[in-house]
Amino acid sequence: MPESVKNSGKVAWRCPSNIALIKYWGKHGDQLPNNASISITLQNAFTETIVTFEFDESINNIEVIFEFGQQRNESFESRVNRFLLRIQPQMPFLRHLRINIESKNNFPHSAGIASSASGFGSLALCICSIEELLFGQISGFLDFRQKASYLARIGSGSACRSIYGGFSIWGQNSTLPESSDVYAVDINHHIHPVFQDIQDSILLVSSEKKQVSSSDGHALMEHHAYARIRYQLAESKLQELITALQTGDMEQFILITESEAVSLHALMMLSESNYILLKPNTLAIIEKVQRFRAEHKLPMCFTLDAGPNIHLLYPESVREEVQNFINDELLQHCEHKQWIHDRIGKGPVKLDIA
Ligand code: PMV
Repeated sequence: MPESVKNSGKVAWRCPSNIALIKYWGKHGDQLPNNASISITLQNAFTETIVTFEFDESINNIEVIFEFGQQRNESFESRVNRFLLRIQPQMPFLRHLRINIESKNNFPHSAGIASSASGFGSLALCICSIEELLFGQISGFLDFRQKASYLARIGSGSACRSIYGGFSIWGQNSTLPESSDVYAVDINHHIHPVFQDIQDSILLVSSEKKQVSSSDGHALMEHHAYARIRYQLAESKLQELITALQTGDMEQFILITESEAVSLHALMMLSESNYILLKPNTLAIIEKVQRFRAEHKLPMCFTLDAGPNIHLLYPESVREEVQNFINDELLQHCEHKQWIHDRIGKGPVKLDIA
């Protein structure tokens, strides 16, 4: 370790969640995706993580305390411990660390916002900052963000896309040669201005615990009867979406985004032990969104994560009309009339906690 660098300290990052347009569903090996995915990183829904660390060569197994929302959380702690063990080949110094992790989300747990993406994103960024503080540089990768994205992926696949603001892609594909299966890349330089201020209104249909987790859902893709055709379709839809994003083709964007959302849920329904995460109110909202779009010719569409809540996407220019529509017609289908307003964001921020 160079003499000028610290062997103890504190680092902190805020990392937002993301919503996928082309969905990652099915994986292999060390959390590698079976198809490439594209997402939008949000602005308002984020996790903040503070890591206090001490480097001590006399210890040989990392010592971790994990607090979530100011309370020690042992089930998260064991997931974080597994994650820290799995990233040790890239971060061998970790075994000589004593760390205290304090993490908090600024959005409700069951809101249909991927908290594992923002959580592992912020933790991976903190780990990279610790490496930088201890050794003065980031080893083995092109830059800081690429390494953080690589590490975040190991915690939760979709987390690797949250390391970048705006649009990012994860998964090797023929359209973008710079893409990779092991980290996400920033694709904002390909994006037409009409998509650069996309809004995301998250309509909370149900906060019930999901009957099948995302990791079980990924596993069900392994022997899925439609797996091969799914991966072929995902690749061609990804190519079409990239073209639409480059040329500003809103109609195609809407078509592909909605088709991907329902494909994800169709895969769940067609899996060996079939299951349905959509609720009657999800379908009621989808029907109204499609009808309102046809009648008012508004650029607006829905997408879904692995749950019943709706993400309504639209450009800022129609924000007022869409939000009036939400208030007048959609809130009656939401649990306790709840919705969260978000938008495309600038990506993670390093927090000054000195
Ligand atoms: O990153 P995971 O393992 O939580 O899986 C995320 C899967 C989806 O959210 C349904 C799709 C995606 O690409 O984000």
